[in-house]
Amino acid sequence: MRTLVVGVGALGGVIAARLHASGAPVRLATRDAAGAARLAAAGLRVGGIGGAASVDAPEVAPLDVHGARGEAFDLVVLATKAQDALAAAERGAALLAPGGTLLPIQNGAVPRLVAERLGGARVLGGLSNLGATMIAPGLYEQRNAGHLLVGELAGGESDRARRVAAWLGRGVPVRTTPNVEGAIWSKLLLNCSVTTLGAIAGRTMRQYLATPDGRAAFDRAYDEALAVALASGARPERMVVDPIPPGWSGRSLPSAAHETWLAGVLAGYGDVKPSMLQDLERRRPTEIDFINGHVAALGGRLGVPVPVNAAIVETVHALERGALAPDPALLGRLLRG
Ligand SMILES: NC(=O)c1ccc[n+]([C@@H]2O[C@H](COP(=O)([O-])OP(=O)(O)OC[C@H]3O[C@@H](n4cnc5c(N)ncnc54)[C@H](OP(=O)(O)O)[C@@H]3O)[C@@H](O)[C@H]2O)c1
Repeated sequence: MRTLVVGVGALGGVIAARLHASGAPVRLATRDAAGAARLAAAGLRVGGIGGAASVDAPEVAPLDVHGARGEAFDLVVLATKAQDALAAAERGAALLAPGGTLLPIQNGAVPRLVAERLGGARVLGGLSNLGATMIAPGLYEQRNAGHLLVGELAGGESDRARRVAAWLGRGVPVRTTPNVEGAIWSKLLLNCSVTTLGAIAGRTMRQYLATPDGRAAFDRAYDEALAVALASGARPERMVVDPIPPGWSGRSLPSAAHETWLAGVLAGYGDVKPSMLQDLERRRPTEIDFINGHVAALGGRLGVPVPVNAAIVETVHALERGALAPDPALLGRLLRG
């Protein structure tokens, strides 16, 4: 499978390095010539969970150069951040051989938005439970023993999903699912609450959940996002916990069963520094418009009230501009407008 990885940051770097090191030829696309030159000089080195792997001379060029050479790929893995993904997807799709597949693996609504823009036939849904960081260009660390999940956005099993999973599986663990849309939603529900509220508070989930406002903000953000998911027709899949909290009736109600459910979320994510907080600290744009922003926009279209998710989006944009700084006190403002 002639394969191009577009975006050689944390996740793209780990996938490309492990796939290449397994003997599967893979080409890399960077944003620009300077990025390609840095990677060509540095090679690819990955360490951490999954062991060490390296590629001394990766085949890397800017995305436009791959296009100008008239190259064709059977698989284009889109591993940019969400805000770069739609533009990169169009350019990546132009490099597909007939019958080729584009695989977006961004958090949030990206696979669905890419499929709407390019037509579903060429797009396979994907998400990553694999955690990675980029220490320097060409130098990556795998942070957990997670996997990629792929499947048809229209639902059901397919040979294409199985083939792509088997191919990428030479490098990193990959699973298929007949309900990738539901899996994407399940991750989105947690990103909308665990990750963004942690970024706003400048705290881990376990820390911010200890205050009444933190707990209420979590419940409201999660409940709104779940109501939107269900109204859209999605069937969120079990990830770390059942996506529908026990006794849920449009909103989370206090109960012993709900506390047990929450303890499950905390066990999985309670002590992780939110990736969005790291983006804010590095003064990089966040993916908020594709996470809570997607929930707020879709909720608006479906007539589902989403005031807390809308307030989260506004607050994160203010944090990006530097007009606010992460602070647990901001969680109360989300609730009280
Ligand atoms: N890292 C994780 O552990 C993890 C886990 C689950 C999901 N995800 C999701 O995976 C996606 C990627 O995350 P990441 O952490 O790998 O991000 P990242 O480290 O920022 O990497 C993104 C890469 O894409 C490059 N890029 C941007 N536009 C491009 C273009 N037009 N052509 C080619 N390359 C382009 C960027 O280059 P520049 O540096 O030049 O901008 C950067 O190297 C995100 O949606 C994230 O939410 C990540």
